[in-house]
Amino acid sequence: MLSLTGDAVLTWINLAADEIELRKAYLNDLDAPIGDSDHGANMARGFLAVKDKLATEKPADIGALFKTVAMTLLSTVGGASGPLYATFFLQAAAKSAGKTELDLADWTSCLEAALTGVMQRGKAVLGDKTMIDALAPAVEALKHADGKSLGEALTASASAAEEGMTATIPLVARKGRASYLGERSAGHQDPGATSTHRLLKALSEVAVQ
Ligand SMILES: Nc1ncnc2c1ncn2[C@@H]1O[C@H](COP(=O)(O)OP(=O)(O)OP(=O)(O)O)[C@@H](O)[C@H]1O
Ligand SMILES: [Mg+2]
Repeated sequence: MLSLTGDAVLTWINLAADEIELRKAYLNDLDAPIGDSDHGANMARGFLAVKDKLATEKPADIGALFKTVAMTLLSTVGGASGPLYATFFLQAAAKSAGKTELDLADWTSCLEAALTGVMQRGKAVLGDKTMIDALAPAVEALKHADGKSLGEALTASASAAEEGMTATIPLVARKGRASYLGERSAGHQDPGATSTHRLLKALSEVAVQ
């Protein structure tokens, strides 16, 4: 695959929704010791609504598709993560407005804008034990993907997100509900970093099909 077509992006979002649904209990369990056990439920509710919406609505281009994802997540996910994931997709929508295909450079600019938007909105930086810890390394991997195919680059990006996700375990949370626990938040994997990894892994799976 040389670029992500609109159909590939739609396949990604539907696959992501299925993967989140499969891991709903796991994401809730990760949120139990350092939050309020609802991250899986929040994300699954949002992505089910996205899937339903996209089953009937046919967005004109990838920007419109991402905008639909963003608005649907905003109105259904709730919690801290709803507005943050809505920002993620809204920023990606701005970078892909009018496009019917995304090559590696296009997707890199989408994900970089998503990262910047989520950081501005949530005021978290790398190491605060949030979804940023998966997203920032994923963007870095894309920026250093010279010579790689799209599939290889997306696989490297998902692997970097996975490393960032695992690296949240020893961290003390400085943002969100987990930060209320202070030092006691250490020793637990961040649920938001885990869902971010899952989204990016689903994309890599679509790209290497
Ligand atoms: N300021 C932030 N910046 C980036 N990510 C954040 C921030 N605050 C929380 N998160 C992410 O959101 C995840 C928690 O999402 P969740 O859906 O459980 O919302 P919540 O914290 O329960 O929201 P609320 O407290 O409003 O109910 C965390 O694991 C973290 O990755
Ligand atoms: Mg929660």
